Parts: sequence; C-alpha cells; structure tokens
Amino acid sequence: MSHRQSKEKILHREKDFHDERYRSESENRKTTNKYYRLKKDFDQRFLDLISEHAKNKKVLEIGCGPNINMPHWVDRAQECHGIDISAVAIDQAWKRLGRHYDNVHLKEMNAEKMDYEDNFFDVVCGKGIIHHLNPPSAFREIARVLKPDGLAVFIEPLGHNPFINFYRRLTPDMRSRDENPLLMSDIQMTSQYFGNVLVYYQHITSILSAFLPGSGLHNISYSILNNVDKLIMTVLPFSKKYCWMALIRLQKPITKESSA
Ligand SMILES: C[S@@+](CC[C@H](N)C(=O)[O-])C[C@H]1O[C@@H](n2cnc3c(N)ncnc32)[C@H](O)[C@@H]1O
Repeated sequence: MSHRQSKEKILHREKDFHDERYRSESENRKTTNKYYRLKKDFDQRFLDLISEHAKNKKVLEIGCGPNINMPHWVDRAQECHGIDISAVAIDQAWKRLGRHYDNVHLKEMNAEKMDYEDNFFDVVCGKGIIHHLNPPSAFREIARVLKPDGLAVFIEPLGHNPFINFYRRLTPDMRSRDENPLLMSDIQMTSQYFGNVLVYYQHITSILSAFLPGSGLHNISYSILNNVDKLIMTVLPFSKKYCWMALIRLQKPITKESSA
C-alpha cells in the first residue's frame, strides 16, 4: 500500500470511529469523566489564552468535535472557524452553538490538508487533536495557515507514562486505533515550524486524586498532589515527560515584513 493510500485509510478510520462515537456517545466514556475533570485548570488556561487573543481576530479550532470551544470567543472574534473530519461532530457542534452567528463557519475538513489560504488565521487552537494526526504534517499545515504574528495553542495527552499507557492498553475501545499520545520528540519538532515554543505540563501524581470520591476529598488531594508534581518537575525536569497532559503554545518567528 502506498503512503498516500495508507494516509487515506487512517483518515477514513478516524472519521468512521468518531462519527460512530458521537452518534452513540457510549456509556464507558462516562467512566473517564473523573480523569477529565482534572484538566479543568488547563482547559481554563486554554480558553483564557484564546479569548485574550481573539478580539477582532480570525480564530480556527481544529478537531473541534461536538463540544466545540468557540462559544467562549464567538462574541469577540471577527471570524470563528471550526473544522473536524467527522460530519456528526460538525452537525452536533452547530447544535451546541444554539443559534445563528454571522461570523461562524463550521466545516468537515482534514486538519492535515486544510482549504484555507496561507497566513489566514490569527489564532489556531485545538484540544486533543494533534495526537490524532501525523504531528509533522499537522504542525507544518498549522504554521502555513497561521499569520506570521499568529498564536497556536493546543492541549494534548502525552505518551511516556507507563502507568497511563497500561491503562490505555486495558481500555482500547475508548480510543481510535490510529491516535498516538504525543512524545517529547513530537513537541521538540515544533521548533522546525515555530520560533517561540512554550510548553506547560500537568499531572504526574495528581491523576491519583481522580480516584477519590466526593468533591471535598478530591479537591484537597488534587491541590496537594498538584504542588507535589510542581516540586517533582522543578527538581527533576526530565520527569515532565511522564505527565498526562501538555499545553503547547506556539508562535511563529516575527519576520521583518510582518513587524514593519
Ligand atoms: C479526542 S477528539 C477531541 C474533540 C474536541 N476537541 C474535544 O476536546 O472534545 C478528536 C477529534 O479530532 C477529530 N479528527 C480526527 N482526525 C482528524 C483530521 N484528520 N482532521 C480533522 N479532525 C480530525 C475527530 O473527529 C475528533 O472530533
């Protein structure tokens, strides 16, 4: 099978997997909500960063899924675009928006090969999307559509922690066959396309607080373990790769033409 054929096969599998998942939103995903609530700090940081930069700007959310984040900046941005390979996701994203906005454009589209012109967007963002793509192709394409002074922000899972990987192996139905949580080499490679790369890491031990019942116990343990994680990462910087999540903030180098 040629490289192109295998890429197309992956794309179809991703589309079919997500169409089916969003159509049926299975019960077993509800069991993962306890982990996903841990991400609330990162999610808030992501939303704040984009909302801050969105004023009168063109913003693109890639792999938006049904729970599109656009409502957080739709009132301040000039143009809001959202794309996903799943038609069901786009259909449900329209429903989530709830009403018509003149500045909103949602489309079924491959994030590795977008229809947009070069240097079109001020902000490109996504949650849990890059690890569904081929990272070099994705970062190249994002850099292409992003203006020279634009900002790209992503939250992605990492693939180095053996305990998390063990859990992933035990629960294969929750993930698509072709997704691959990012490796440090994927993150390092962003410097080929972006001059300014900032990465924040979260959740080594704090993930354990997900197993505690109730919000009181959970919140106390989360806050303690979060501080433990910060200490571990300060003393042993290599331990960052064992985090569950990374928030990746990318900016292209500002060229003379764009800053003039
Ligand atoms: C883990 S889900 C994340 C959805 C959403 N961002 C969220 O946080 O709920 C990954 C999303 O990426 C989409 N996706 C996968 N491959 C894609 C591709 N090549 N181009 C665009 N979207 C893609 C899937 O359809 C799915 O909606």
